Amino acid sequence: MSMAPLQLEKLLDEKKIAARVKEMGAEITKLCKKEDLIAVCILKGSFMFYSDLIRSIDADVRTDFLGCSSYGNATKSSGEVKLTLDLTHGIQGKNVLLVEDIVDTGLTMDFITKTLQARNPKRLITASLLFKPKALKVDFKPDYVGFEVGNEFVVGYGLDYQGYYRNLPYIAQVTSMQ
Ligand code: IMP
Repeated sequence: MSMAPLQLEKLLDEKKIAARVKEMGAEITKLCKKEDLIAVCILKGSFMFYSDLIRSIDADVRTDFLGCSSYGNATKSSGEVKLTLDLTHGIQGKNVLLVEDIVDTGLTMDFITKTLQARNPKRLITASLLFKPKALKVDFKPDYVGFEVGNEFVVGYGLDYQGYYRNLPYIAQVTSMQ
């Protein structure tokens, strides 16, 4: 069964996203000064941003993946965060870059950064493609932000609504939801 289509309005097109992701990659390259970096993709929403971002980082990057779920099928944060897949490698004494799609209430990244800090990395830096500053419920701000957005629900470029729309090459705002 397919889902009823939502009304979407394009918010950020492919060109704009690609240009900003390149800039972020260049900034992160400067920061790591050729040191080793473990880039962590926070599944599932950041897979597309992650694959573009790491190709813009000119350093010795190793990849790892962290599964996290906080939303189920709803569009509001439950506040409950759980790890669904842990990292394959230890991060003690390493430079770690956490790559997230969007920071909304901040609860997910607050939980993940606390969990990973307890493993004593050398340095933990965070990059999020999107940031909803008005929705923030905890004191968390990513070190690198692609774009600040309002409280509207967005899909595309990895972000989903009930599992759909992740394959849209651009980011759209949902203008009506049944
Ligand atoms: P937070 O814990 O409230 O910061 O939410 C983070 C997670 O909620 C993100 O990783 C997304 O998976 C999801 N999320 C928050 N806002 C949106 C949105 O506008 N569209 C799609 N997913 C969202």
